[in-house]
This record gives sequence, C-alpha cells and structure tokens, in this order.
Amino acid sequence: MARKLIPFAGAGILVIAVLAASVSVFSGDEKGLLRPDDARIIAQGREIYRENCASCHGKNLEGQPEWKTHGPDGKLPAPPHDDSGHTWHHADQLLFDLTKFGLKKFAGEDYKSNMPAYETVLTDAEIIAALSFIKSRWSEGIRARHDRMNAASKQN
Ligand code: HEC
Repeated sequence: MARKLIPFAGAGILVIAVLAASVSVFSGDEKGLLRPDDARIIAQGREIYRENCASCHGKNLEGQPEWKTHGPDGKLPAPPHDDSGHTWHHADQLLFDLTKFGLKKFAGEDYKSNMPAYETVLTDAEIIAALSFIKSRWSEGIRARHDRMNAASKQN
C-alpha cells in the first residue's frame, strides 16, 4: 500500500515545483523583474516604449533638454532613460512601481509631475517589457551595476 503512494507523492512534488517556477516569473526571481536578455520581450517593449514613452523620454531614450532644471510651471522635464540618466539608479521593483503608479505615490500627493501613471493603460507584463527594453539599451557596465543593485535590494 505504502509503495503505491510513492509515485503520487513524487508527482505532487513535481506540480509544486512547476507552480513555484511559474509564480517566480511574475513576482521576480534572483534575476529581478526585468528581462533585458529576452529578444521577444525586448521587441515587444520597443513598440510599447515608442507608443507610450518616447514622446517625453525621447525616441533614443535621450530625455528632454535641461532635464535637471524645473520649468516655469515648477515641473521637471522628462529625464533620459539611457546611461546618462537616473533611471538605472533604481532597482527593478521601484522602476515598475514608478511606471505603474506614477510619482505621486512616492513623492507625495502635492508633487507636480508630467509623468503619467500607467496602471489603467498598460498591463504589468507590458510595463515589464517597456522597462526591459530600456535596460537592454544600457552599457554592459551600467547593467552589471544595476544587477548588483537588484540583488542588494532583495536582501533588505
Ligand atoms: C507626458 C510625458 C511622459 C511620458 C509619456 C512618460 N514619462 Fe516617465 N517621466 C516623465 C517626467 C516629467 C519624469 C520626471 C518626473 C518628475 O520628477 O517630475 C518621468 C520619470 C520617469 C521615471 C523615473 C526616472 C527616475 O530617474 O527617477 C520612470 C522610471 C519613467 N518616467 C518611466 C516611464 C515609462 C516606462 C514611460 C512609458 C510607459 C513613461 N515614463 C512615459 C514624463 C513622462
């Protein structure tokens, strides 16, 4: 009797392992949330970026001129998303949250910004694709530093 149960126990463990693997794709694993090495996701992200982000952050991720100086309306111009910008200073999860919820959630309700919240515009997978495309454009050195930052942010 006990012998017959063993194959079932084995199958159960396999199912749990498969479930755990699929969940980690959505909640981020040791590699982080973004997929800058996945050609399919990057191609999708390039389109999403072109349609939703490029008007402010630039066709080539160059941002708007004088992006560190507040304009007459008190708002900051859109920063670049390339190596010269500030984007890579944030770990995956924060980049995701900033894009999904906008800056108000982090900088306070009174903070005036042109950065939209994409919560009702893009799916989580589309946000991850757009950010994966952005990361795929960073130099090797910056990507390696960002990987280390992601790893460090997971330990906190
Ligand atoms: C209407 C203009 C506009 C569009 C469109 C836009 N952004 Fe932004 N974004 C901004 C501005 C302006 C800021 C700087 C925010 C501030 O401090 O006021 C910003 C900041 C950010 C930041 C934070 C960068 C940092 O260094 O802290 C991220 C991440 C970001 N945007 C991602 C995106 C993504 C991804 C898209 C497309 C899905 C997008 N943005 C579309 C204007 C825009």
